[in-house]
Amino acid sequence: MFGDFSMGRGAVEMKKSGALAADDIHKFWHSIFLINSGHAVASDEAKQACKEAIKALYDFGSRNLHDGMVWNWGCSDAAVDARIKKSVPLYDAVSSDGFSEQLYCFALNAIGLDDLSDKRVLDVGCGFGEGLNFASRVFGFQNAVGLDLCRNAIDRANARLSRPGLLFVCGDAEELPFDDGELDIVVNIESSHTYPDLSRFLKEVARVLRPGGYFSHVDLFTDDRYRQFVALKPESGLEWLAETDITDRVKEAIRARMRPGSFLRRALAKQQRDTPMLLRMLSGSLALANFGADFAGHQYTRWERLMQSMFVRMLKRSGSLQPVRFTRYLHHLARKV
Ligand SMILES: C[S@@+](CC[C@H](N)C(=O)[O-])C[C@H]1O[C@@H](n2cnc3c(N)ncnc32)[C@H](O)[C@@H]1O
Repeated sequence: MFGDFSMGRGAVEMKKSGALAADDIHKFWHSIFLINSGHAVASDEAKQACKEAIKALYDFGSRNLHDGMVWNWGCSDAAVDARIKKSVPLYDAVSSDGFSEQLYCFALNAIGLDDLSDKRVLDVGCGFGEGLNFASRVFGFQNAVGLDLCRNAIDRANARLSRPGLLFVCGDAEELPFDDGELDIVVNIESSHTYPDLSRFLKEVARVLRPGGYFSHVDLFTDDRYRQFVALKPESGLEWLAETDITDRVKEAIRARMRPGSFLRRALAKQQRDTPMLLRMLSGSLALANFGADFAGHQYTRWERLMQSMFVRMLKRSGSLQPVRFTRYLHHLARKV
């Protein structure tokens, strides 16, 4: 996710724009571990600490990822690709590999409506807005809003992409700044695995949707988080219409991105051009993991493995680091009752 580190006094720091200490990375992964362990994060203080850690990493990412670079792990789906090419024929030919766009359009296509142009759409956890911006071109949204916890991401989205009918606001998925029944569609793309209170998020989605409105959700799950998700469905205020396992489609996109010379590899190399060699190798290997390499069973080279273990050893200086094992990538479609 976040290339371009430099090392200083036992920490890993970001060059040029802002700093990211090893401790920040450690806190991020510890939060991801807690949140995905299948239990509600206990206290408000612990929830807040998780959100601060998540925000720090995504703040860093939204300052440093180039336009068109990956926003999510992506999806490779021939039908969605064909659907997109009807309206944006060269979407994957110039400044993107197209997989992140496909994940967005998969989620919107799955709602099954021919025309979404008159719907009021909310993208919760929109990052720096490129997914919603792209989807609004494909589906012709006239009234769409993206929301993210991360102020930098929202500033970047508004500076580059906002226009009449498309804007971005800073906010928390667990406390949506919208009135009851204000929205027709809520999408949530690869974001909810970072929410400490999943129950509250689902109830917020149900609250802001109008009766008959749709919730289209894609995300990765650990086994424990999946069990928690299933247990929360009946009390969410939503009618759950479909669950689709898209693990294979996501893995296919990740594997394409991991290939030598891929768009992602070239983009990462460009981004890290000014980083000293050793740090480039260290952070490059971390970046591959953050783009889903482990999930897709990527065969790291011996050199990549070595760099990764050095990096993990550095992180461990900040405390113990528990592994998080994501086992599936799912799409869920629900409707407000
Ligand atoms: C992996 S990124 C995905 C971004 C975007 N959906 C995409 O697919 O391109 C996850 C995003 O969720 C956001 N996020 C995390 N926790 C959040 C919360 N509690 N409320 C709103 N956004 C949150 C992060 O800041 C980050 O931008």
